[in-house]
Amino acid sequence: MPTIGTPLSPHATKVMLLGAGELGKEVLIALQRLGVETIAVDRYEHAPGQQVAHHARTITMSDPAQLKALIEKEKPDLVVPEIEAIATAMLEQLEAAGSVRVIPTARAARLTMDREGIRRLAAETLDLPTSPYVFCDSAQELQAAIDTKIGYPCVVKPVMSSSGKGQSKISGLSDVQAAWDHAMAGGRVAGGRVIVEGFIDFDYEITQLTVRALGADGQVETHFCEPIGHVQVAGDYVESWQPHAMPAAALQKSRDIAKAVTDNLGAGFDGKPSGLGVFGVELFVKGDAVWFSEVSPRPHDTGMVTMATQWQSQFELHARAILGLPVNTALKSPGASAVIYGGVDAQGIVFDGVAEALRVPGTDLRLFGKPESFVKRRMGVALAFADDVELARVNAKLAAALVRPRAA
Ligand SMILES: Nc1ncnc2c1ncn2[C@@H]1O[C@H](COP(=O)(O)OP(=O)(O)OP(=O)(O)O)[C@@H](O)[C@H]1O
Ligand SMILES: [Mg+2]
Repeated sequence: MPTIGTPLSPHATKVMLLGAGELGKEVLIALQRLGVETIAVDRYEHAPGQQVAHHARTITMSDPAQLKALIEKEKPDLVVPEIEAIATAMLEQLEAAGSVRVIPTARAARLTMDREGIRRLAAETLDLPTSPYVFCDSAQELQAAIDTKIGYPCVVKPVMSSSGKGQSKISGLSDVQAAWDHAMAGGRVAGGRVIVEGFIDFDYEITQLTVRALGADGQVETHFCEPIGHVQVAGDYVESWQPHAMPAAALQKSRDIAKAVTDNLGAGFDGKPSGLGVFGVELFVKGDAVWFSEVSPRPHDTGMVTMATQWQSQFELHARAILGLPVNTALKSPGASAVIYGGVDAQGIVFDGVAEALRVPGTDLRLFGKPESFVKRRMGVALAFADDVELARVNAKLAAALVRPRAA
């Protein structure tokens, strides 16, 4: 059974978060509550998670040398990636050498850091249903892929990007060049590759939070949260709710897909029970049909709603699972979340209307404390619980709208 030490003592249990945004901040708080010594790493100072951790470190996490030096200096028991853009090949080396344990595994971090690794695993290795897709390295290849295999409408995304950056829908011939240019401008690396996917005309999309945690016998068990429904605008989440009502057959298919993907990503390279933690499996649903879209091997942005809806939020579930502790994924109440965008480009903004927002029944807020606001940067989230999801959605959106960020 796992033991936990005392923070800042020689027997501390040390956990390093690679990425300390709003999701990492909540994981760090959950770890702090369990008496873990925490190290929050980000690319800029005063990142949200750095404000609540024992130690704050600022490095370029995509630089293998910087990442290795930091891990070897701090000697954490666990390294927990919170973002995709990190030197995952270095994490694989360190994990293989036995110098560190990566959550869930270094291989999972590598396969999910770009769209190609995870898509090929899901569709080609695991034979799961996905949209039809082709990877392309030029506008000519893109046009050829659409003409021969994908058709219109379709969706183009840089292989290295998240939150909808560089993503666009193509309805016809005249959109293709613009979609290519948009992808080149929005990807994380210059001159990148894109995926073109057939457009799935789904009824709705869900996140199936899936937790791999140790049972009493020391074996890994898989737990499922209630499905989370969400709305995406331009590829970025604006609103989520839980539970999302769905037919039993579609829910079963969703969980079968989630189990297949997380079993594979969680498999240990040395046969030991491994691959612990929360996964956010994104699925498209139409009637009883379900398509796998992508997976985060970590808590998911749409899962912020669980801070209002579950006895143990996705962040508490992640903290417990990675420490080898038992989890409970039960729902406490229906609820919803609504994103608060910065609305301005400015440093050190202020938020008006917080009291009015919190007067909306059943609501709560998280203001992330990001030092710099952008018009489309997620600066906070409103949460609401209620007797039913519809009322919770109305109240979460109302509370979010009442919070008014502005330049100081
Ligand atoms: N093939 C598709 N057919 C229909 N809609 C799609 C397709 N691919 C993506 N979308 C829509 O765009 C959204 C974002 O796509 P995706 O999750 O692949 O991008 P992302 O940049 O990784 O987003 P995030 O980081 O917010 O999860 C999806 O949640 C879905 O609403
Ligand atoms: Mg997504």
